[in-house]
Amino acid sequence: MRKILAAGNWKMNNTPSQTEAMITELRDKVAGAKNDVLICAPFVCLPAAVKAAEGSNIKIGAQNLHFEDKGAYTGEISAQMLKEIGAQYVIIGHSERREYFAETDDTVNAKVIQALKYGLIPVLCCGESLKQREDTVTFDFIRSQIKIAFRGLSKEDALKVVVAYEPIWAIGTGKVATSEQANEVCSDIRNCLAGIYDQETADGIRILYGGSVNKDCAAELFSMSDIDGGLVGGASLKCDDFSIICNA
Ligand code: PGA
Repeated sequence: MRKILAAGNWKMNNTPSQTEAMITELRDKVAGAKNDVLICAPFVCLPAAVKAAEGSNIKIGAQNLHFEDKGAYTGEISAQMLKEIGAQYVIIGHSERREYFAETDDTVNAKVIQALKYGLIPVLCCGESLKQREDTVTFDFIRSQIKIAFRGLSKEDALKVVVAYEPIWAIGTGKVATSEQANEVCSDIRNCLAGIYDQETADGIRILYGGSVNKDCAAELFSMSDIDGGLVGGASLKCDDFSIICNA
């Protein structure tokens, strides 16, 4: 039985002091929430986030990591660093990282492997552009993203991964995919995973939808057969809205 995960992706928002205030407010609002709750905060906010979430049901994650253990990679953050400060999850391969920071399917795969090596749960993002959707290559494109991202992962490791299907045209645009559109792709991702592993494994992997998820559409999205929660950007910056999503 897959439990719904409400994951907030704060992106480049909130300072450490704002983080402390926000998580402190959120922890009361989501105490006893129906869904699992995760906040992915900017690197420098993580210590404040972990501290403010201590003893609550809020899990804390990062938004990126480097795929090497350590070394001459100016400005980068390692899995070991994240682990040591108490992060439990890490977003990998968000479309903004692919687009603005030249991440590729291969680096995404290396990062997924690295996260798992240090016991971090990867929230692996995939999703098509509007052009790809219009060219009707959505399924082929996402299958190829998934196949490369899971390359070399054992069944046991695959089960730890959370997949986030985020159509690029729906991110930050207010244009939510319909629940049917979102479920159709999430279901195809599950079929793809069943092809790589087996049905039982595929059925055990959580697949989230992301892209303009808000307090009004979350419940319907989360009720779909193959959608196991949401990766939420804008709406995760508003405590009241996000707490509704955590209970959707
Ligand atoms: P959004 O962002 O909810 O603001 O569309 C989602 C995401 O990019 O993870």
